[in-house]
Amino acid sequence: MIRTEHLTKRYNGTLALEGLSFEVHEGELLALLGPNGAGKTTTLRLILGLISPTFGRVWIRGELMTPESHALRRQIGYLPETPGFWERLPAWKNLEIYARLYGVPSPRRRAMELLEQFGLADRARDPVATFSKGMRQRLALARALLHDPPILLLDEPTAGLDPEAALEVRERLRALKGQGRAILLCTHDLEEAERLGDRVAILRTRLLALDTPDRLRAQRFGPMLAIEIDGEPEPYLPRVQGQPGVIQAAVRNGRLEIQVTDLRTTTPHLVRALVEAGAPILSVTPIKVSLEELYLQIVRAGG
Ligand SMILES: Nc1ncnc2c1ncn2[C@@H]1O[C@H](COP(=O)(O)OP(=O)(O)O)[C@@H](O)[C@H]1O
Ligand SMILES: [Mg+2]
Repeated sequence: MIRTEHLTKRYNGTLALEGLSFEVHEGELLALLGPNGAGKTTTLRLILGLISPTFGRVWIRGELMTPESHALRRQIGYLPETPGFWERLPAWKNLEIYARLYGVPSPRRRAMELLEQFGLADRARDPVATFSKGMRQRLALARALLHDPPILLLDEPTAGLDPEAALEVRERLRALKGQGRAILLCTHDLEEAERLGDRVAILRTRLLALDTPDRLRAQRFGPMLAIEIDGEPEPYLPRVQGQPGVIQAAVRNGRLEIQVTDLRTTTPHLVRALVEAGAPILSVTPIKVSLEELYLQIVRAGG
């Protein structure tokens, strides 16, 4: 649905994005992660054609985007980082204006329909200026959907929302994902990325990583095991470190956290070695490295 090839952008000589190639497929949500200034917003604006690339190309549904691709652009819904509204106009009017711009039939009815869907129907007549941040964000999402686009570009839709409002937006996103759209979601919320994203892309001017969180884990960390011991775990650390199949071991979160080559073969070895050393084992559990840990490692290492 979306394909970029060597997408590169310089602003007055400053490199903001370099050689970015990726695809987002139908029904897929790709979470785009990266520190501030990584080029996430630039990527969305390039895909949308709001700015033109210094180098590289964008395809939408197999068609090359050019400055004249107005019909293609209409396949995309965009939620900008700071959505602007006509503050003094009622919410329904804001949506109706956009519906007309997009050439949607029955613009007023469509506006009301979306306000209804997004739980804003009772505030339809109120000026947007009276809306809370969460309501504005839902309104912005409704606006991005007026023309029912198969592709969505969302720039940090839950940033700055309180937990309840963020959850509400996230639930809308999950529903949208279930409708076969291709979604590119910029976010700083790694839990959100993990829960909603089919794959995650980590960007810092260049693409540092792109895969499912589980495959990134397997590539970077391999399987991990946590062993809880009744008492101090430190004395048993050297015992663990010497075992075959152990790549790395440390005391973290009050327990032994061990990276191994293979859980099946290494776990029984480790348990036996610890029991022989007199360790009172409370529990042995395979663990997942958090996406946060993975992200920090990838960003710090630069890929
Ligand atoms: N209009 C612009 N003019 C000059 N530099 C810009 C402009 N927009 C973005 N940049 C720069 O490009 C880089 C990437 O910015 P951006 O795409 O907004 O990053 P992100 O959305 O990941 O925080 C930053 O260094 C930013 O300062
Ligand atoms: Mg941004």
